Amino acid sequence: MSEFPLVREQIGGVPIRQLVETYGTPLYVYDLSVIERQLAQLAAFDIVRYAQKACSNLTVLRLLRERGALTDAVSAGELRRAELAGYPLQGDPPPVVFTADLFERGTLELIVEQGVHANLGSPHMVAQLGERAPGREVTLRINPGFGHGHSRKTNTGGTHSKHGIWHEDLESCLLTADRNGLAVSGLHMHIGSGADLDHLSQVCRAMRDAAMQVGRSVKSISAGGGLPVPYAEGESPIDVDGYFERWDATRRELEGEFGHSVRLEIEPGRFLVAESGFLICEIRAIKQAGPNVFYLVDAGFTHLARPILYGAYHPMSLCAPFAEQRSMQEVLVGGPLCESGDIFTQDAEGIVRPQTLPKANVGELLVIERTGAYGATMASNYNSLPLAAEVVIRNGTPELARRRQTIDEMLAGEIVS
Ligand code: LLP
Repeated sequence: MSEFPLVREQIGGVPIRQLVETYGTPLYVYDLSVIERQLAQLAAFDIVRYAQKACSNLTVLRLLRERGALTDAVSAGELRRAELAGYPLQGDPPPVVFTADLFERGTLELIVEQGVHANLGSPHMVAQLGERAPGREVTLRINPGFGHGHSRKTNTGGTHSKHGIWHEDLESCLLTADRNGLAVSGLHMHIGSGADLDHLSQVCRAMRDAAMQVGRSVKSISAGGGLPVPYAEGESPIDVDGYFERWDATRRELEGEFGHSVRLEIEPGRFLVAESGFLICEIRAIKQAGPNVFYLVDAGFTHLARPILYGAYHPMSLCAPFAEQRSMQEVLVGGPLCESGDIFTQDAEGIVRPQTLPKANVGELLVIERTGAYGATMASNYNSLPLAAEVVIRNGTPELARRRQTIDEMLAGEIVS
């Protein structure tokens, strides 16, 4: 079977029809065996720290904890998720690292009180934590002055990026840390999602330079996230061994300089979960506009925002009787939202880009594939559409991991006086 099938009957051994009969549509389904397979590929790294923003569903997070991954949190909400998934908030190495470019007031308090290790992305964070919690060990996130991303919006290094401490400010941050008795025990660089091996060598050099500047207090370096996955035919999987080798060489060089061991962390989100996830929707209308055929489905950009935000391409397949015997056609796929950008088949400029799919009928199921990363976690309630249900497949058996939001739940916080 092609890696990008146009017809799909099952996910993780469970018939899609059965999933839809039980849970309805739109429905996110995660095949946990795929997550386990991906995690196993990163075994050479000392620590795999899962960037839960990619898919923070508690069942997924718990599985990753059980399989030995630590986690990263970027908000008080993600810290709570980590706790609920069974992570202690303190430990050595830190089970949970809080990474951000600013401290919201309440979150700073939480981090101080709970002793959460923080990865600081701005000089003000260094000063604010130093004032409240002198004596702590911290990690500094550095913006090395360049970046890379699958889209301008996911590039997190360089002068236009709000992320990390600008490399030229490292010295003054070290002074601030010193004055407040903070020990810089870690350095972190995440320059963007989808970085390739050439960029990586550049990042490794920048990491070595920054670590040399900080000196022997550095006990860990983090490669950040950004490991890409193939989303389309012709895109090949990342050379994980090459990725590791470059970082390992950097780590060894620093160990030689410092005379003690340096832990090598990686912080992937997408790599672990993207390929595990499928968004199943029902085709509710089919129509033609001049030469264009539209399949209109019951999921919109409220459920999967990547196409409208980045022009991200997601492969799709049809689940329907005898679908493999049908002729193919070029189609556009759109959702129910009252907004013309609610199209899953578009490029970064918002130009519609048809995809080839088998001819379909209303009532049949369309599967938007490779949606495990930044799918459900970026969902919204625009147009007052409730969030989709989420199901995991564990050892060939489906389990509900989040029930479908009801309209009453969606409205629960609103006050009519
Ligand atoms: N570490 C840090 C500090 C990050 O900011 C991120 C992603 C990661 C790790 C994980 O990156 P990954 O391995 O998943 O590429 N919504 C966008 C991606 C935004 C990524 C934000 N930060 C998308 O749908 O492509």
